Amino acid sequence: MEQDLLNQFQSVNSDATSLIINAESLSELNEIKLDFLGKNGRLSIAMKVLSQTPAEKRGEIGRLANEVKTTIEDLIAAQEKKLGAKVVTTGLTSTDVTMPGILPPIGHLHLITQAIGEISRIFEHIGFTRVRYPEVEWDWYAFGGLNFPQNHPARDDLETFFVDANVDPKHGRMLLTPHTSSGQIREMTKEAAKKGEPISIKIVNIAKTYRRQSDVSHTPMFHQFETLVIGENISVTHLKGVLDYFAKSWFGPHRKTRIRPYHFQFTEPSFETDVSCGVCEGRGCNLCKEGWLELGGAGMVHPHVIKNCGLDPKKYTGFASGWGVERVLMMREGLALPDLRILYSSDLRFLQQF
Ligand code: PHE
Repeated sequence: MEQDLLNQFQSVNSDATSLIINAESLSELNEIKLDFLGKNGRLSIAMKVLSQTPAEKRGEIGRLANEVKTTIEDLIAAQEKKLGAKVVTTGLTSTDVTMPGILPPIGHLHLITQAIGEISRIFEHIGFTRVRYPEVEWDWYAFGGLNFPQNHPARDDLETFFVDANVDPKHGRMLLTPHTSSGQIREMTKEAAKKGEPISIKIVNIAKTYRRQSDVSHTPMFHQFETLVIGENISVTHLKGVLDYFAKSWFGPHRKTRIRPYHFQFTEPSFETDVSCGVCEGRGCNLCKEGWLELGGAGMVHPHVIKNCGLDPKKYTGFASGWGVERVLMMREGLALPDLRILYSSDLRFLQQF
């Protein structure tokens, strides 16, 4: 009886070994695996018989059984690897790798994201650092610190999105920032906290801004890019230089710029900045009327604002400008969009064109 079982294990061993090493495909190997190691496989059956043998008689057969099992498993694993590698190489040789492939659809960045990247690079080129500040803000950063009187119409529910949250005792109501100028207060306050160090700010804050408006030429969310330069002896000529540089980089080297007096709560003096019209080159045409196109606001940072952030306005001066990303893009591309809201409607037929 024991001798029979011993022979059985030995023949399982030799049969399996020769079958495995001669297997020519993974499916053939799989069948061999089932024939020997499967629930009703030859090895499994022999194992079952062994387990019914009285323990004291198992001795040598038990050792052999275990050896046969590991040998078969190891051989199968090795053969599997060999045949698997063969599939890959034969697969390659039967494919003409020089044939044109099938390109999966490739997306691209939204045209506003592309514009933001380009604007950042223009400013980074002359040493500005791009910064980001919260879109959900406190009144202090968006209005209070920027010199807006308590009853200013911008604070009206009709102009600004207020968030239904607790009023902060120090910073007022919570809101969605209506302009990137909130970054001025954030930036200067942060720098002022580094007490004793000389202050030198040269940043461009590009961010989403929110106003309660939605019509063919307004979206409730739009983007602004705001420069802020603060240091000793910063003057209007620096502002004019940066305006000129941006206009020439963005619109083209022939464009000219000008500044006109205006009013903002947080700059003094304040300006509207204009770029010469690209169609008539400043002579006046149907597009621009008088030769100039309006770019957006700018000015010298108001001494009260500098002081509100904990800096000494006698020592530090600076300028800021806030222009619209969508606006400069439309101005440059001559995109006569009948409805600006299409920019954010996720319509691929529109977006794929850029
Ligand atoms: N925050 C102003 C606006 O949204 C623009 C501005 C920025 C004006 C910086 C002056 C200085 O209209």
